[in-house]
This record gives sequence, C-alpha cells and structure tokens, in this order.
Amino acid sequence: MDPVDPQPRNVITRASCPSTQDIARDEALAGAPAGTAVITDHQTAGRGRRGRTWTDPPGTALMFSYVARPRRALAELGALPLVAGIAIAERLPGRPRVRWPNDLVVDGGKVAGILVEAVTPPDGDPFAIIGVGINANLTAEQLPTTDRLPATSLRIATGEEVDRAALFHEVAAHLDACLAAFDADGFAPLLPRYAALDDLAGRALELRLPDGPVRGAARGVDGGGRLLLEVDGEIRPFSAGEVERVVD
Ligand code: BTN
Repeated sequence: MDPVDPQPRNVITRASCPSTQDIARDEALAGAPAGTAVITDHQTAGRGRRGRTWTDPPGTALMFSYVARPRRALAELGALPLVAGIAIAERLPGRPRVRWPNDLVVDGGKVAGILVEAVTPPDGDPFAIIGVGINANLTAEQLPTTDRLPATSLRIATGEEVDRAALFHEVAAHLDACLAAFDADGFAPLLPRYAALDDLAGRALELRLPDGPVRGAARGVDGGGRLLLEVDGEIRPFSAGEVERVVD
C-alpha cells in the first residue's frame, strides 16, 4: 500500500470551474511542484481526448488535474497515459481494466478517462498535466450518452457509493508512486502490471488512423507504451490512432 499523502500535497479546490486542466497548467507555469492537483465538483467546459467534451452532473464525478514533471526523455513520454492508467486502475473499486490508451472500463462500460496534455514552456522544463475524470456516483439516468464506448459508473458497477475525497487521496498517492517508478526506470518494468490490466490483449479490433482504418489482433503494448497489433501475421506498433471497434 502507498502511504496516503505522506507529504502535504498542494491541492487546489474549486466548487466549479470551466476545466481543471487550465488551472493546473497555469499553476505549473507559475512553478507549482510535481504532484500539485486541482480538484473540482463540477466543470462547465470539461474536455476529453480528440476534442471531445467531458460532462458531469455536479457533485457526482471525481475530477482532477495533476501536475507531472517527468524526468524521462521526451521520446518516452508517450507511455504517460498508460502509467496513469495503471495507477488509477489499481486503486479503483470494481476491478477496472485499461483500454489503450486512456479509458478505464468495467463490464465493457467506461468508468474513467485520462487526458494527458504536455506543455513546453518557452523558458523552462516541459511538464504534463494529467487530467482524470472518474464516473464515481452517477446513476444510470445521469450517464452521458456517447458515440463510442457506453458509459458506466463505479456506483453502478459495485452497487456502492464512493467517498470521492478518500478515493482522490488514494489515487493521487498511487499516481505519485507509479510516476516515481517511471522516473526511475521507465515504462518497461511496469509492463507486467499493464498486461494484468489490459482490456484489449488478444482481441480483434479496428484502429482508426489518419490514412484509414487498420484491423488486427491486439498483442499488448511495448516498452514505449505503443499498442502492438498483429496485422497479416506481422506485429506492428502504433502510437497514434484510436480503438474504433473491438470485434470480439
Ligand atoms: C477522455 O476520456 O477523453 C479523457 C477525459 C478526461 C476528463 C478529465 S476531468 C478532469 C480534467 N479536466 C478536464 O477538462 N478534463 C480532465
């Protein structure tokens, strides 16, 4: 077990805000240390990957943005969403699995999403804002409608209400620990932990890429966090794209 916040964490709380991502980025630009987190009860302009919106009925979701200052080479930072995915999946109830690259799923439904935004300031070290949105206590009526994975919540999956404040501290502490491991040795030593949570391994899927879809069978991820797809008998790594459809 990670100790729960062994050192005082810089936590910025907002009852409501457009997006915690922007507040965390501004704080980081002003020098906030790694591990600083911005947490809110409601976002009015929450965002997800690929220009999607992230919506939440006030007071139901656990949403925060975490300042990461990774000490790995730029080329290795593609694994950051997966490191965050491991940290979150290992601490959420309901035994979620990680669907590459940024979704956490329970029983085929999305319970959480991760948005990593890298920032390269003109006069400073690059950093990343890790945005975490968890459908904690939403009822079935409150779930957002989606154009891809259906949504679910921890409450629906486990039948129990979640203490969002306690869960935040647990997840943030485990994120500290997983990022420290990544800083020390990179992503490769975390591969077995990812494999234990991999929702796609062995499944047939279609990946949407700028120059058209690719179909294949998922064969895990590599040490850089790239999805490995077996296409026509050849294993190919993919760092971009999105899982459009899981066929089986
Ligand atoms: C996704 O599923 O595409 C990622 C969703 C990330 C949502 C979180 S909620 C906290 C943080 N603030 C945002 O505006 N987005 C992230």
